[in-house]
Amino acid sequence: MALYSQKVMDHFRHPRNVGSIENADGIGEVGNGKCGDIMRMYLKIDNDIISDVKFETFGCGSAIASSSMATEMIKGKPLAEVMKLTNKAVTEALDGLPTHKLHCSVLAEEAIRAAVQDYCSKNNLEYNF
Ligand code: FES
Repeated sequence: MALYSQKVMDHFRHPRNVGSIENADGIGEVGNGKCGDIMRMYLKIDNDIISDVKFETFGCGSAIASSSMATEMIKGKPLAEVMKLTNKAVTEALDGLPTHKLHCSVLAEEAIRAAVQDYCSKNNLEYNF
């Protein structure tokens, strides 16, 4: 069996929603101390709905594929639902990642949470997800 699924390869080669958002409502940046990879997530939020999302990932192929898939999974979704997104769900949507690459999908989950937290603190909203 190939190490990476076709979906991982597709999102790695053709990542969706790459880039930044000017005047983003929330920005979350996280990193993994061991591999040194960094992920930044930009959110545009209208009426508690993610109206736009973009990411920049300075990292491995699995991190790029995970961020790309995660952005597709949260676009158009309400914040309460977005905060339930787990790295497990992202990994499943990618048809799996090798065990030693699971931490890459954790970055996507953490970056989204950090961006929502940023949005809440900028708007004096309670972060109670
Ligand atoms: Fe670190 Fe993938 S190896 S995020």
